[in-house]
Amino acid sequence: MSTQKKPKNGKVTVLPNGQSSNEELLEIRKEYFLPTAALYYKNPIQLKKAKGNYVYDEKGTEYLDAIGGIVCNSAGHNHPKIQEALLEMIKNDEIQHTTMLYLNHHATDLAKKIVSEAPDGIDRCSFTNSGSEANELAITAARHATGETMVVNLRHGYHGGTSGVLSSCGQHTWRFRSQPTASVTSALEPYCYRCPFGKAPTNCSLECAKNVETTIQTSTHGKIAAFIAEPVMGIGGVITPPQEYFPEVTKIVHKYGGKYISDEVQTGAGRCGSTFLLTKDLGIDADMVTMAKGFGNGAPIGAVLMKSEIAESLSGKLYFNTFGGDPYQTMQALKTMEIIEEENLIENAMVMGKYLLDTLKELMKKHEIIGDVRGRGLLIGIELVKDRKTKEHATKECAELMELCKDRGLLIGKGGLAGNVIRLAPALSINKKQIDFIIQVLDESLKVLSQNKPQSKKQ
Ligand SMILES: Cc1ncc(COP(=O)(O)O)c(C=O)c1O
Repeated sequence: MSTQKKPKNGKVTVLPNGQSSNEELLEIRKEYFLPTAALYYKNPIQLKKAKGNYVYDEKGTEYLDAIGGIVCNSAGHNHPKIQEALLEMIKNDEIQHTTMLYLNHHATDLAKKIVSEAPDGIDRCSFTNSGSEANELAITAARHATGETMVVNLRHGYHGGTSGVLSSCGQHTWRFRSQPTASVTSALEPYCYRCPFGKAPTNCSLECAKNVETTIQTSTHGKIAAFIAEPVMGIGGVITPPQEYFPEVTKIVHKYGGKYISDEVQTGAGRCGSTFLLTKDLGIDADMVTMAKGFGNGAPIGAVLMKSEIAESLSGKLYFNTFGGDPYQTMQALKTMEIIEEENLIENAMVMGKYLLDTLKELMKKHEIIGDVRGRGLLIGIELVKDRKTKEHATKECAELMELCKDRGLLIGKGGLAGNVIRLAPALSINKKQIDFIIQVLDESLKVLSQNKPQSKKQ
């Protein structure tokens, strides 16, 4: 008897050899998933296979993955060393799931390695399944250690999809009506291209950093539990605060008794082409650093790294996470770290990131719609505007550009409060030829977009 579920509309969906048409998948998603499950593209693609920087749909069409499975692909899809290690574990009947209630060397191997990459003073860690959970734990730890509740976050920031951290999300699109916002307050964004103080980097006196202090003074009782921020605000549109912002803010956070949580879910694992954790390169005296995404190269793993004094304050309490620190995930994260080292991927991210950014700046001279290009290493944003003077968000155009690129074999991402920022975050192993392809497709697609412009205005 078929175990096939009958769709609610009565049509039976037959899946020969595990194959499904896009139409079938769309129909089932529509019927069974929550409407919150968004899709990229008007005609979404079905991804079946992947290798290195390339992914393949059900017909075998090849795409260069320049968003890296949403910033998760650091060592490259299906890296042979990861494949080999996973197969070896399966062949040896290694236990898949243990929990931290038992001893297992994969989690301890990873703990030693990740702490060796942490900024000075950070020497303890805990593993989770995701970035959201890592941030939840960091905030819980900060509140416990300080005995305070208030968390200061940044407008336009993103720290995950679970209830607690969603209340620290600075973008309405991700929040829900039920969102609790107690004990959370937001400072203004360090967004140089759209400075909320009307300044430019050349004439400002870091009003954005000072605003963290004003926020604490005006919307807390004068003491805080934590400040949470991404060193580069990825989903917010690759907002890249000036380097001087960080030491200034760290001083303020510590002055008011708070713990600095550096959310490196996107920027970590060498993505920014400097140190394994950008926090270290930026000289942020963070009390905690959170990670996920590229840390596991696609495996569901997150981590919180923290100073001993915070870890010690948790003594006597229990934190249990059923899958956190499981053998396969921790093995994959460790392998990913080894590959990043062995293949000099951080240096490659620096060199290729610079090449990509410089070439995009050239492209900007040809295409008026590009208002700004920015980023660090291989975390890059291209902000599209209808008019460079008014900086009106080119939201529709951004979505169209994604479609045009997809039709030409290139997958890119988007972000920003208005959805007008193209995000690029390929695997750290990307080469010059692949970057030239990204530029060529963007150039071609931007040309088509500008030719379509009068038509789309009439609509
Ligand atoms: C900066 C940042 N923090 C946290 C998260 C949440 O991570 P996850 O989706 O693994 O829960 C994300 C996800 O995009 C992120 O970009």
